[in-house]
This record gives sequence, structure tokens and C-alpha cells, in this order.
Amino acid sequence: MSTTAPINTPDVNTPAPAVEVVGVSRVFAARKGDGVTALDNVSLTVAPGEFVSLIGPSGCGKSTLLRLIADLDTPTSGSIEVFGKPARQARIDQDYGIAFQQAGLLPWRTVAGNIELPLELHGVGRAARRARAAELIELVSLGDFSGNYPDQLSGGMQQRVAIARSLAESPSLLLMDEPFGALDEMTRERMQSELVRICAETKAAVVFVTHSIPEAVFLSDRVVVMSPRPGRIREVVNVGLGDMSGRGEDLREDEGFFRALSQVRDLLYGDETPSTPQGTRGVETR
Ligand SMILES: Nc1ncnc2c1ncn2[C@@H]1O[C@H](COP(=O)(O)OP(=O)(O)O)[C@@H](O)[C@H]1O
Ligand SMILES: [Mg+2]
Repeated sequence: MSTTAPINTPDVNTPAPAVEVVGVSRVFAARKGDGVTALDNVSLTVAPGEFVSLIGPSGCGKSTLLRLIADLDTPTSGSIEVFGKPARQARIDQDYGIAFQQAGLLPWRTVAGNIELPLELHGVGRAARRARAAELIELVSLGDFSGNYPDQLSGGMQQRVAIARSLAESPSLLLMDEPFGALDEMTRERMQSELVRICAETKAAVVFVTHSIPEAVFLSDRVVVMSPRPGRIREVVNVGLGDMSGRGEDLREDEGFFRALSQVRDLLYGDETPSTPQGTRGVETR
């Protein structure tokens, strides 16, 4: 008698990917003409706990891709799953946290009040909310500022509040669109180190949009290099600098770090000469 399981039984030991984007295109209608193909047949899988950055010139579809994963927009074709569920269901179930370039805090709420907001909206009781906010305030090193209002904080501190808020419901996935884009270089590097520490602690997967090559390399397991018109994945670089718990400031001086930097830079700028004839530009691997 055979004990072999039917071929189509899912393997319960293999966790669903954090994000699975399959053949996704997004065409925005234009007043005249064919419309803008913001994304053309993009496929990408992000493993649980993995940190993946999207990098590429302005207009290559990074924000569009992130918004589609967050179900803030719908693909023209293709499919997106988050932890094995349709993106819509993952949004309803609050499976991810979101942080954007602007901290987007409510000015009339304190630091703690802003962090508690998503919990409040989802009916978490007052005591549990307080406790969770206190924990997150420690995590983002804002211990002394719990009762401050956003306009009493620096840009970097406001962004830490936004990150704490995105972590409020302990998501296994964070979606971040240039969250440090408005910060000065020094604050930015501090925030990157802090995010690395938070990821090591929470084991959350991250999809992170950035313009900065060093930022992408410092943070990521993989860097997805995108190209515009139409938005496509040009190549995916395996950074290979080890896991989050081992990423300290000295990594920025590491030989492997510089190697990955030039690899990403070559992919971004290597064939940008305007005279390059159409159709012969670089690799289009996916
Ligand atoms: N809501 C929209 N309506 C029309 N066009 C859009 C919309 N959102 C994005 N686009 C276009 O799609 C392309 C990709 O935009 P975006 O994803 O914002 O790029 P990135 O974040 O990489 O700078 C751009 O050409 C942009 O103008
Ligand atoms: Mg963008």
C-alpha cells in the first residue's frame, strides 16, 4: 500500500514567501495615447525575514510596486501574494507595517499616542496599547520623548516614531518607501543601523525602496536593480554580507561592501550612455 501524499498537497513545513509577485504589470491610463507602463511583467519573491531593496532611477516603478504589494493599488495583470494570501486579504489582516518618506504623524498626538493609533483603530485595550507603545519607544530609543509632540522632535526622531508605529502590530513584513530620504547623511546612517538592529530583533521581512546605493547595500540581503520605461527588474544582486545580527558600522569599511557597491553602481550606470541604440541596453534578467 502506498503512503505517498498526493502531488498537489502543499508542504506544511515550507512557509509561504513573505511576498510573491508574479508577472505583474501596471499600466496607468493617459489622457492621450497608450498610457504609462509603470511596471512590465515584474516577478519577485521575498522570503520570510529577508531584507530586499528596490533601487533604480526616478520613475522606474519602485513606489508603484510597493503600493501594489500593500494593496494601495491594483495590478493591470499578474498576481501578488503576501504570506500566501492575496494582497487584499493581507491588508485586511494587517500582515504588514508601512513607513513612507514623510513620517505622517498626527501633530495633535504625542509620540506614544501616534504609536498607539493603529492598535486603537483595531480595538486593542488601553492597558495593552500603553504597554506595547512603551516597548516600541524603547526599541527606537525614544525613551525620554514619549510625551512629546511631533513638532518637538527632529526629523530623524519623527521617522523613528513612524517606524515604531509601523511595528505596532508586530508585522512579519515591513514595506518602506524611502523612509530616510528626507534625513541628513549622518542621521540617515544612524537610522540604517537602528533598522538593522530592529530587523535582527523582530525577524521581519522588509521591502525597502531607496535611491541610495550604500543604503541599499548596507541594509539588504538582495538588491533589486530596476530600469525605467517600462519599469522592469534589470537584475538582482545578492549582497552576501551575512545576517542582520552581524551588521555593524565596520561593515561600511568592508571589502565585500565595496564590491557590492560597485556591482550595483555598474548595473545602474554601466550602460547609461545616451547614444546606446535601443534594444541593446544591458541585461534584462529577471
Ligand atoms: N497614479 C498614477 N497615475 C499616472 N501615472 C503614474 C501614477 N503613479 C505613477 N505613475 C507613473 O508610473 C511611473 C513609475 O512611477 P513610480 O512608481 O512613482 O516611480 P519611482 O517610485 O521609481 O520613482 C512614472 O512614469 C510615473 O509617472
Ligand atoms: Mg517613488
